[in-house]
Amino acid sequence: MSDLITMDDLTNEEIIDILKTAEKLLPVARGEVYAPLLQGKVLGNLFFENSTRTRMSFETAMKRLGGDVLNLSSVGSSVAKGETLYDTMQMVDGYSDIAVIRHPRQGAAQYSADAVDIPVLNAGDGAGNHPTQTMLDLFTIQQAHGTLEGLNVVLVGDLRYGRTTHSLSHALVRFGTKLTLVSPESLRMPEEIIGDLRAHGGDVTESEDLQSTIPDADVIYMTRIQKERFPDEDEYTKVAGIYKMSADDLKVAKESMIVMHPLPRVDEIDPSVDSTEHAYYFKQAFNGVPTRMALLCRSLGVKVPKKVGA
Ligand code: NCD
Repeated sequence: MSDLITMDDLTNEEIIDILKTAEKLLPVARGEVYAPLLQGKVLGNLFFENSTRTRMSFETAMKRLGGDVLNLSSVGSSVAKGETLYDTMQMVDGYSDIAVIRHPRQGAAQYSADAVDIPVLNAGDGAGNHPTQTMLDLFTIQQAHGTLEGLNVVLVGDLRYGRTTHSLSHALVRFGTKLTLVSPESLRMPEEIIGDLRAHGGDVTESEDLQSTIPDADVIYMTRIQKERFPDEDEYTKVAGIYKMSADDLKVAKESMIVMHPLPRVDEIDPSVDSTEHAYYFKQAFNGVPTRMALLCRSLGVKVPKKVGA
């Protein structure tokens, strides 16, 4: 019940509720207030794939709420000796109260959740889903625009393998967002996901051209071409560097338009964008802390008081 594997695990009301909790927890996330709401709780942070932001923001979220963190990665653990994911999960079940898992295989988060009693949060399963990223993305959009409704959002880049866009597009159409999907033909959003977006009433357009989408956009969500997911290096070379945004390209943008990126960026956002008022990706990365705090509290059944730290 308190697992989070895909955005289907949350209703719109629950999403709004989590965002409100994240807002309340902002001073704790910034380290201005100490609120040991998760004292005595242990998080098992399981990363079988590289991570900077997701792993660190879960860890800081837990620690700033007075909880503890056990870190496990495939390097330095018995996974390297051939231990199965099932067996590893049994250990985590015994050693911690909640688990966060990132794994290269799509479906691995659901498999892990089914294997244990403790709540499991999916921190990215292959080219599948990344719902906790979506929650911080929604938090960022709401912070910038004051609403999630009626916006024009452009998702750009590797929509085929990019799990952040899979989860985010699904959540956005449920809030009535107009979506433009910009990718090369070979990296289009999978048919079944587009079908699902339309089945949810999504107004979805596809394009290969980024520049023409800029004037009408409220949010441009750039993504990295997911090199590690390509079965063939040549296929990657054909599309590497296909979308590059610079500050000059944004001269036609609305003043309120924000540029987001789950990060890491490779070359898709030129550093010249960083000093424009459109750049939101570093704030977005910080927002992982309050949002993940709210998610941890929810899954552990801890109620966040109206006034935190008072
Ligand atoms: C993303 C991921 O791991 O899917 N990173 C993240 O969690 N912030 C995006 C990416 O790796 O390109």
